[in-house]
Amino acid sequence: MTSAMSTIAFDRIPRERLPALLAEMPKAELHIHIEGSLEPELIFALARRNGVALPYPSVVALRAAYAFTDLQSFLDIYYAGASVLLKEPDFFDMAWAYLQRAAADNVLHTEIFFDPQTHTARGVDIGTVIKGLDHACHRAHQELRVSAKLILCFLRHLSEEDAMATLEAALPYRHHFIGVGLDSSERGHPPEKFARVFDRARAAGLHVVAHAGEEGPPEYIRSALDVLEVERIDHGVRAVEDPSLMQRLAAMGMPLTVCPLSNVKLCVYKTMAEHQLPALLAAGLKVTVNSDDPAYFGGYINQNFAETFAALPQLGAREAYTLARNSFEASFADAGAKSHWINQLDLAFEEAGTAQ
Ligand code: HPA
Ligand code: ZN
Repeated sequence: MTSAMSTIAFDRIPRERLPALLAEMPKAELHIHIEGSLEPELIFALARRNGVALPYPSVVALRAAYAFTDLQSFLDIYYAGASVLLKEPDFFDMAWAYLQRAAADNVLHTEIFFDPQTHTARGVDIGTVIKGLDHACHRAHQELRVSAKLILCFLRHLSEEDAMATLEAALPYRHHFIGVGLDSSERGHPPEKFARVFDRARAAGLHVVAHAGEEGPPEYIRSALDVLEVERIDHGVRAVEDPSLMQRLAAMGMPLTVCPLSNVKLCVYKTMAEHQLPALLAAGLKVTVNSDDPAYFGGYINQNFAETFAALPQLGAREAYTLARNSFEASFADAGAKSHWINQLDLAFEEAGTAQ
């Protein structure tokens, strides 16, 4: 515990103050798929702009299809939505819309996943994807004061050869992204399927993360650590089924990028009240809160904080601070930026503890 944390008067922050504090507190977002930020209105606008036919007649009909039973039922619609993205301005518009929402939620730093294979499979050049997203990240830094970085994700339902070819095609744009990740259908596609491509990414100096233990078993979290040597686990909530893994994650200080609304929408938990985030925090894991696919799962990062804290009375001001602080500590930003952001966080909580 740092000195700042021990001087914050958490017990003097009234419970009624918590919703506003959750919204106002500075935070980082570390698990957001940019294609999952594509709102139905923008999907339809881009479809019109690009002359792409959609299998849904209207925004209302598309939104009505967002009733998911598991990860795959979501992914089928998510990939259909992404089919409207063809040109560099399309990728810019998508990311710029997300970054404005992030700024409104007091996100100071975001590490954004993108799925190049979803686009290259439709004939879009990987440079078109990366340049459009990168342009929005630069503009966010200048105009919104939001620091934004990109993480390239491999689709795990495709082969390792396809992932390797994607990485090679992306390396000319190496300075535009900071790491690689692993997403899409988890069951039946264990992390070790991608051992060589993660070796190659690490050798190129890229950060490495992977989705594991969302729908897949705790063993996938172990192989993400042991084989892929990841620096963060995305989701990881199924670690609660394995006490020795919980101890290991806590001892390593391994961050988990948890996405509460996603877990409820994809039926990992029936209700938010059943979410295991309090158990993960209580076991000393470095948990963060994130939105995953905000356009599909019912809200952006502040909505995730609001609904999680509303449903779980064990969570109070101390946990809010810990989650926000973890988000900065678990980011891939440099030490100077992290301590600057954590100072801003400390100020927000010190003020909340002294205000009448
Ligand atoms: N899990 C796996 N793949 C994904 C997700 C997710 O939650 N969102 C977008 N791609
Ligand atoms: Zn995800």
